[in-house]
Amino acid sequence: MSTSGLPDLVRDLPHLRALVESWHRAGLRVGVVPTMGALHQGHLSLVRRAAAETDRVIVTIFVNPRQFNSAADLAAYPRTEEADRLKLDGQGATLIYAPDGDTIYPPGFATTVSVEGLSEGLCGAYRPGHFAGMATVVTKLFTQTQADLAYFGEKDFQQLKIVQRLAVDLDLSITVIGCPTLREADGLAMSSRNVRLSSEARAIAPVLYAELQYLAGKLAEGRRMADVVDAAKRLIVAGGYQAVEYLELRAEADLAPLDTPLVPARLLVAAWLDGTRLIDNIAVPSLV
Ligand code: PAJ
Repeated sequence: MSTSGLPDLVRDLPHLRALVESWHRAGLRVGVVPTMGALHQGHLSLVRRAAAETDRVIVTIFVNPRQFNSAADLAAYPRTEEADRLKLDGQGATLIYAPDGDTIYPPGFATTVSVEGLSEGLCGAYRPGHFAGMATVVTKLFTQTQADLAYFGEKDFQQLKIVQRLAVDLDLSITVIGCPTLREADGLAMSSRNVRLSSEARAIAPVLYAELQYLAGKLAEGRRMADVVDAAKRLIVAGGYQAVEYLELRAEADLAPLDTPLVPARLLVAAWLDGTRLIDNIAVPSLV
C-alpha cells in the first residue's frame, strides 16, 4: 500500500463501519493504532509498523477522560489534531478515527472493563481507575474499528499486558502487538508529556533511563533488587527528580514481582520531574 498522502479524517461510527466492512469484504487486513494524539515519533513508529504488516491502518485519536486521575491533568493534555494529521503524512495511515465523546460514551453508558491482577500495582497503585478507564476505551475502539491487528508501545508496558489480556479474555478477534520504545538521542523515552518539561527539567530527564540501565547491569551481575533498589531511587532524586513513585522488577509474562531476573523481566519506573509524571521501563535478560 502507498505510504504517501494525508489520511482521511472520520468522526462518525457508521461511516467507519462501512469502510472497514468494505475492506474486509475485499480480503484486506486492518490494523489499528490507538492514541490520544499529540503525536510524536514513538506513535509514528507504531503507524509505520502497522502499515508494513496490514493493508489498511486506522489511527484513533481520542483523549479519553475516563483514564485521567485529575481534571487538571485532562485539561492540560495537549490537543493538536491538525498538526497530528500533517505528521501522519506519508506514514502509511489510511484514516484517522477521531470520535466525539458521545460516540464513545453515549448517554447512559454504564459498562466498565477492568482487568484484575495486571492492573494492580505499579501505575495501578498510584492512578486509581486509570487502567479500567483505559481498558474500557480500548475495548470500545477495538469493537468499533473491527481491526484485525492492534499496535501498542512497550513504553506503557503494564498497559500493553492489560490490553493483551482483555483481548484474549473477551474473545476479541484482534492480535495485540507490542512495539519497542522510541527514545530521544539522550535516552529519554518519547512521550506526549515531555513537552510540558521546562528546559532545565528536560536536561535532567534522561537520568531516569540512565539509572534503569545501570540497575539492569547490577541485576545482570547477580545483585538482588532488594539490595540495590534504594540506592537507585536515591540516585534518581539526586539527579534532579522530585520523587520516585515506584521502581520495581517484574516478570515480563505476568508482571509478578521479582528480586532476581530468573525469568525474562522488566525494570519499571515512575517518577516526578518538574510537576510531570514520567514512566519508563527496560528489559532485563533472564540470568538462567
Ligand atoms: P498515548 O499515550 O497517546 O499512546 C499511544 C500509543 O503510543 C501507546 O501504545 C503507547 O505505548 C505508544 N507510545 C507512546 N510513547 C511511545 C514511545 N516512546 N515509543 C513507542 N511507543 C510509544 O497510551 C495511550 O495513548 C492511551 O492509554 C490509549 C491506549 C490510546 C487509550 O486511551
